Amino acid sequence: MIAKQPQSSAPPGARASMPKLLAGRYRLERVLGVGGMGTVYRARDLLHEEFGEPRPRVALKVLGENLAQSQDAHLLLYSEFSLTRYLRHEHVVRVFAFDVDTVAGVAFFTMELMSGMTLDQLLLDCPRGLPWQQLRPIATGLLDALGHVHRQGVLHGDVKPSNVMLVDDGLRLFDFGLAQATAAPLTELAALNPRRFSAWTPAYAAPELLDGALLSASTELYATACLLYDLALGGRSAQGGRREPPRQLPRRCWPALRVALSSNPQHRTITTDELQAAMQCEHSVVGRWFAARAR
Ligand SMILES: Nc1ncnc2c1ncn2[C@@H]1O[C@H](COP(=O)(O)OP(=O)(O)OP(=O)(O)O)[C@@H](O)[C@H]1O
Ligand SMILES: [Mg+2]
Repeated sequence: MIAKQPQSSAPPGARASMPKLLAGRYRLERVLGVGGMGTVYRARDLLHEEFGEPRPRVALKVLGENLAQSQDAHLLLYSEFSLTRYLRHEHVVRVFAFDVDTVAGVAFFTMELMSGMTLDQLLLDCPRGLPWQQLRPIATGLLDALGHVHRQGVLHGDVKPSNVMLVDDGLRLFDFGLAQATAAPLTELAALNPRRFSAWTPAYAAPELLDGALLSASTELYATACLLYDLALGGRSAQGGRREPPRQLPRRCWPALRVALSSNPQHRTITTDELQAAMQCEHSVVGRWFAARAR
């Protein structure tokens, strides 16, 4: 986490030198969140407001003080913006514009202002695990988003509870700050060497990543499976140990989830779509198939 900067004029958690108005247009109102890489503000788009826009508020992300000093800072933020922009999906956060305040030398991008609860907050609220009626739409929505992201040639790079928010109309996967492009044309866009910024969240990192393997659809599926398992269990599961079927999870879903949770990538023989299908329907063919294999 970036240390909060006590400063008289800046909102709490803000970068010390942050002006209150960016690019003559975005009025920063308050800090929404401070992560390991950036600070996200709620801002009013004064231009849209001038035209009578009834919802002129946006979320605005800048890099944290530590990263903002680096030579490629603007490129790093642009990479996050551009990859996210290509991923139009109902369960992926929508980004609007990338800009630079040339006077302050601050690069930023704007995105939809989400209002809701992140899954790590939900985990704190549900220490006994999430009831299946609540878990199921989260599982299917998140796997739907992940399948789309992968089909577009992008790996999110940091699937974890604090990067998923429950909003009024479902959920949003956000924070593509560690995302990597795997297919053209996006590989041409993301000019950064993504491995420079490899930073795993240990609780959700597939074991092979810690041994130097590259990020892959399989490592992302592992992280997602850990997240779903934690939600079903109501807490953070110990890695490496034997995982028991969570009480909240219907038995028919467990064989597929267990395959996705395999520490050995050779045993993780399930795709995002197959896990989604197993989580989705009562008597899915996929669910039965994994159940039969598990016997
Ligand atoms: N579009 C948004 N609308 C509302 N709040 C947001 C939005 N985007 C981010 N936030 C808030 O800001 C926090 C930090 O955002 P984000 O995860 O993008 O930053 P980060 O520095 O990349 O995080 P990390 O620590 O995961 O690397 C989030 O946890 C969330 O609370
Ligand atoms: Mg984050």
